[in-house]
Amino acid sequence: MLSIVSSFIFVLCAFCVSTEEEFPVVNTKLGPIRGRYLESRLGNKFLSFRGIRYAEAPVGVLRFQPPIPVKTWNETFDATEDGPICVQETQDPSIITEDCLRLNVYTINKSPDRNRAVIIYFHPGGFYELSSQSKFVAGPEYLMDHDIVFVTANYRLGILGFLSTGTKEAPGNNGLKDQVVAMRWVQENIEQFGGNPNSVTIMGYSAGAISNSLHMVSPMSQGLFHRVIVMSGSASAQWSIPSDQLDLAKKQARLLNCSDESIDSIMECLRKATKEDFSKTVRDMFEFAVSNPIILFKPVVERDFGQDRFLTEDPTCLIQSGKFPKIEVLAGVTEHEFLFPAIDILKNDSYRQQMSTNFAKLSPICFLYERDSTNSERISSNLKSYYFGNSNSSDWLTFDGLRKLSADGIIGFGMHRFMKLVNVHTTVYRYEFNYTGRYSHTYYPADKPYGAVHHDDLLYLLRVPVMTPMFNKTDPENPIVENMTGWWTNFASTGNPNVGAFKSSVEWLPSTTQEGQYLEINETPTMNKQLFADRYSVWDTLFPIECPN
Ligand SMILES: *[C@@H]1O[C@H](CO)[C@@H](O)[C@H](O)[C@H]1NC(C)=O
Ligand SMILES: *[C@@H]1O[C@H](CO)[C@@H](O)[C@H](O)[C@H]1NC(C)=O
Ligand SMILES: *[C@@H]1O[C@H](CO)[C@@H](O)[C@H](O)[C@H]1NC(C)=O
Ligand SMILES: *[C@@H]1O[C@H](CO)[C@@H](O)[C@H](O)[C@H]1NC(C)=O
Ligand SMILES: *[C@@H]1O[C@H](CO)[C@@H](O)[C@H](O)[C@H]1NC(C)=O
Ligand SMILES: *[C@@H]1O[C@H](CO)[C@@H](O)[C@H](O)[C@H]1NC(C)=O
Ligand SMILES: *[C@@H]1O[C@H](CO)[C@@H](O)[C@H](O)[C@H]1NC(C)=O
Repeated sequence: MLSIVSSFIFVLCAFCVSTEEEFPVVNTKLGPIRGRYLESRLGNKFLSFRGIRYAEAPVGVLRFQPPIPVKTWNETFDATEDGPICVQETQDPSIITEDCLRLNVYTINKSPDRNRAVIIYFHPGGFYELSSQSKFVAGPEYLMDHDIVFVTANYRLGILGFLSTGTKEAPGNNGLKDQVVAMRWVQENIEQFGGNPNSVTIMGYSAGAISNSLHMVSPMSQGLFHRVIVMSGSASAQWSIPSDQLDLAKKQARLLNCSDESIDSIMECLRKATKEDFSKTVRDMFEFAVSNPIILFKPVVERDFGQDRFLTEDPTCLIQSGKFPKIEVLAGVTEHEFLFPAIDILKNDSYRQQMSTNFAKLSPICFLYERDSTNSERISSNLKSYYFGNSNSSDWLTFDGLRKLSADGIIGFGMHRFMKLVNVHTTVYRYEFNYTGRYSHTYYPADKPYGAVHHDDLLYLLRVPVMTPMFNKTDPENPIVENMTGWWTNFASTGNPNVGAFKSSVEWLPSTTQEGQYLEINETPTMNKQLFADRYSVWDTLFPIECPN
């Protein structure tokens, strides 16, 4: 009997010990969190804490409200698996939830005396899709071969994150305020995971990069980070930052079969709708060829209703006048950037026909500039002759013209303007990612990667399990993974991609506004200057910066 009891206890204890080893617990100021070990690309063990709630679930009366930081808890929070994803278009509504304000922490070990540099990553997806889940497009396995703490965070998407009626009911920017609360969480808690709250780099891609260009000038974000990585997206572009998106709110109400007559009727409708209602109607919010305008859900310059405002003035003007902390910036683009609309439009007879007969109407929608004005017509006509020449032939809409116009109009020019303006005031390391590997987000015309397109550089910084195997030491991608993660983690640790644990034989020089030096990243990385100077100068002329004095 005694031996049965003691062996029972023994079994229990063995279970306890292995549980604590396999599933370590970190005690934060908010409460205990249980994580689990994962294995890095090169086979090192590291700790993961996934799906940690950083804000109260924005559901019920909290829908469309700014985020409320999470309250303390007593029961150990289970962070051993990927957390949920925010509401977005999906075939499987069971995987989306409004209760999605979660973040993930990855660290080599949790001893709090280690002061490791922290990288916080804000994911891409046009402010309406994707997530920070490790099993989807934001795997930590490559960066975790370096001695940093890596954090990825969800934020609300689509109408749920970016509803902006321009009234006190919905002043806007909730998705960005979510990011701010996630950054505050890092300030408060990251030491418990071995991270240094005084060495935080925010890294963002596309919508996440637009976010980061805004955090630089947002009064809410000051002091929450110390360096910034801005990859393929910026808010200092030719597209406007409005002070409301009431038209979009009305459109959403109509798509839900509600009246759009008053703010009250819109709000009543949007408060009653289910997550499935939003998910099913996202695609119908767009106007042309699958997903144009791609930047539909926008940040806004908030009107003042006494709320904490994320953005108070036009970001381009704030950056131009140097009203941002003089921190180091690493920023750049891929060679071919936003190729996708060019392919979507040209491979569909109906879209191609519409674009070539009605360019003046559709170009501002696809390439993000003012509509329905004589100035708009002038811009369209200038862009048409620059990118397509003055051919009279009926098939003037060439792939080569359209791909460059998409690349520049959607990403390239905005990045060019951002880097140029920021560079007047602070250190900028620029790059152009120009490496074509075995995998890509675009195989075109047939089954071969076209070249380095939007998101292709992420394949070597983050594990993207839905697209590639994990690149191991013997894979041909190994050197580019080593270079990318090396430069990026050096920058996060020291503010200089050349300085740190990773040694490279090329020197990545900081750029100047005049010369625009950048590192061309491919098998033979080299310094170059004035990327696409001729193309971008067309946009500089068509879209002069207009700021109040
Ligand atoms: C946590 O425990 C404390 C002390 O027992 C108690 O006062 C508090 O209400 C508990 N909090 C929650 C969220 O359960
Ligand atoms: C709105 O009405 C249309 C047409 O009756 C219907 O197909 C659609 O499902 C409705 N949408 C919602 C969200 O109820
Ligand atoms: C072209 O787009 C239209 C509108 O979305 C769609 O109905 C049609 O099936 C598409 N055609 C092709 C060939 O993909
Ligand atoms: C196109 O047509 C216009 C007027 O019809 C003509 O003046 C011009 O020379 C033509 N351009 C080309 C390249 O053929
Ligand atoms: C990118 O690299 C290819 C060769 O790999 C080269 O032909 C091309 O000119 C480069 N483009 C730019 C813009 O650097
Ligand atoms: C590396 O991964 C490839 C598949 O991408 C596999 O064929 C190869 O065996 C792996 N090599 C090692 C050393 O694990
Ligand atoms: C990585 O960078 C080194 C320079 O430090 C260079 O020699 C090598 O070719 C690069 N490889 C790739 C694939 O980027």
